[in-house]
Amino acid sequence: MTSKINFVRSLMKAPLLANVPKHIDHFSKFSPSPLSMKQFLDFGSTNPCERTSFVFLRQELPVRLSNIMKELNLLPDRLLATPSIQLVQNWYIQSLMEILEFLDKNPDDQRVLKTFVEVLEAVRNRHNEVVPTMAQGVIEYRDTFGQPDTVTYHNIQYFLDRFYTSRISIRMLINQHTLIFSGTTNPAHPNSIGCIDSMCDVTEVARDAYESAKLLCEQYYLGAPELELTQINASNIREPIQITYIPSHLYHMLFELFKNAMRATIENHEASSFLPPIKVMIALGGEDLSITMSDRGGGVPFRKTECLFSYMYSTAPRPCIGDKYRAPLAGFGYGLPISRLYARYFQGDLQLYSMEGYGTETVIHLKALSTDSVERLPVFNKTALRHYKLSLEADDWCIPSKEPLDLAAYHADK
Ligand SMILES: Nc1ncnc2c1ncn2[C@@H]1O[C@H](COP(=O)(O)OP(=O)(O)OP(=O)(O)O)[C@@H](O)[C@H]1O
Ligand SMILES: [Mg+2]
Repeated sequence: MTSKINFVRSLMKAPLLANVPKHIDHFSKFSPSPLSMKQFLDFGSTNPCERTSFVFLRQELPVRLSNIMKELNLLPDRLLATPSIQLVQNWYIQSLMEILEFLDKNPDDQRVLKTFVEVLEAVRNRHNEVVPTMAQGVIEYRDTFGQPDTVTYHNIQYFLDRFYTSRISIRMLINQHTLIFSGTTNPAHPNSIGCIDSMCDVTEVARDAYESAKLLCEQYYLGAPELELTQINASNIREPIQITYIPSHLYHMLFELFKNAMRATIENHEASSFLPPIKVMIALGGEDLSITMSDRGGGVPFRKTECLFSYMYSTAPRPCIGDKYRAPLAGFGYGLPISRLYARYFQGDLQLYSMEGYGTETVIHLKALSTDSVERLPVFNKTALRHYKLSLEADDWCIPSKEPLDLAAYHADK
């Protein structure tokens, strides 16, 4: 396979490489085309046509890549210049150029289609480490220049939300194409089309995620809270809760939430011999599939709730990058923000409510119907550009004085 990819690379013409900014400008003028879960399924189930998928992807992938590369270029120069972000940027350029090689290829040539699958697999593998590498870039920036100012902080947060959403969506397109057309089927999941399961058993995924988090938690803390799981299927209480969804996305979100709930529970009950269970409730209605997870881990102050979704916030010690032998229960502070992106990607959401002194409840809302689950994608346009150009303006709400006002002296003066 590597030799084929090298062959494609050797075909990469020098002028093409020199024209990278031109290509990015061109493809970023198109808006990405969001697909619904139903479209993904329909396409994959009824005699999938590799040619159609190829023709769609050789245009759509460059569009999604270029849209987000435009925004990457708008990051503060000092952040963009960090070695980690440079590395990520180079991965994006290389992948874009490799896909563009197929623009003038004949879609009726089986060899072209085969090579395309291989190139997509290589692109996916190249981008495996994008999240920790970006995280490392932000750390490098903070280590050198200190905490970013408010505007830079918001820009980074705004960018990363969009960048990671874009990445999730690009991987989704690549996975669907490579899984469907590489000829491999997964006998354990006969209802799966690519990575989408039309009968995704939500309770089963929740139990799996709990067991994995429990293993990790036991390695760390030599114990783990129990799970109490309840489910309500409104249309038929006897039926299992099944929706059309991507089990790996659901698993990711639940695993992250379980890890957080376990860590908080244990650290909040260090002195006691009893660990309160983590309670999970899954409810399927006509429109929504909702999951709540409640722990008694002591919660967080209300003031900090939004910070928990920041890519620059974690109360855990900083993990070592590349340490493959240690799977930390907490680390970069990416668990919540990335899980929220997964939920939002198909029009759902993830919210967190805390009662400081008691515990936390996290709620995942997903669409129950595959027609409502439509990709939520960033697009680079004037509105997005304006976000990066915002300058620090005066607040339109009064800022309380830091010094307590001496009311007695104030009245005595009058
Ligand atoms: N259930 C919870 N109870 C109390 N605090 C929580 C809970 N969930 C999250 N937090 C707080 O929010 C912070 C951010 O959580 P998040 O999952 O995003 O990152 P993390 O757990 O620190 O690292 P990782 O990237 O490994 O998940 C945590 O460090 C913790 O302080
Ligand atoms: Mg976490």
